Amino acid sequence: MILIIVGPPGAGKGTQAKKLQDDYGIIQLSTGDMLRAKVSSESEIGRRCKEAMESGKLVSDDLIIDIISSRIGEDDCKNGFILDGFPRTTPQAEALDAMLEEKGLGIDHVIEISVDDDAMIQRITGRFSCAQCGAGYHDEFQKPEIEGVCDHCGGKEFTRRSDDNAETVRTRLEEYHQQTAPIITHYGNKGLVESVDGMAPIDSVSKQLNAILG
Ligand code: AP5
Repeated sequence: MILIIVGPPGAGKGTQAKKLQDDYGIIQLSTGDMLRAKVSSESEIGRRCKEAMESGKLVSDDLIIDIISSRIGEDDCKNGFILDGFPRTTPQAEALDAMLEEKGLGIDHVIEISVDDDAMIQRITGRFSCAQCGAGYHDEFQKPEIEGVCDHCGGKEFTRRSDDNAETVRTRLEEYHQQTAPIITHYGNKGLVESVDGMAPIDSVSKQLNAILG
């Protein structure tokens, strides 16, 4: 199964993609995570990505298309994949269509997670993750069972993303509405888009997704 999850920053794309990865055994490909790995590597490309990401702007189409094009050819993508954060512009969507067509593959579902912009600032500024295993949490909506201890690995150190501040989130939301929202029309014209209510609690969003995917 090839699945695209679309939604603004904080919509819950990563949260739901990780659950689907566990439930359906298909790999989550998060372009945000891939770019953060490049930033950590301190390469020249990483430095350029860091500048764009910390301002809330998108990185260049060429770079991200190259990254995805080689990633989906790897062995762990043979049973399908969940694209979380890609495509994010019409040129990226067109490049993905061409890549898949060349491989004789097609997109099964494009899931739009619909949310209110106003709630997203609270979601993003409250987000943190385990420094050891990367499990995601929220100050209010998804606390660890024992305060200060990761539910998954027992880690006691947590991190926050440097682009998770109110000012950057506003730019990320603008980028979403200007550059990413048009891909919903692109895939809507192909009859591929289904929408879920991302304002519902996390488990309820998962149920909506499971109902669509079967
Ligand atoms: P990326 O990492 O993809 O960030 P984003 O799209 O802004 O999305 P987020 O990861 O912030 O949100 P999410 O929807 O995954 O929400 P989450 O599940 O964590 O990209 C970062 C940057 O990289 C971009 O700004 C850009 O510069 C660059 N980039 C990436 N891809 C690119 C591309 N293709 N082209 C160009 N540039 C690219 O949830 C958020 C919080 O809310 C969590 O704490 C969670 O616990 C909580 N939560 C989730 N669901 C719910 C719910 N239903 N109710 C209550 N709380 C909830």
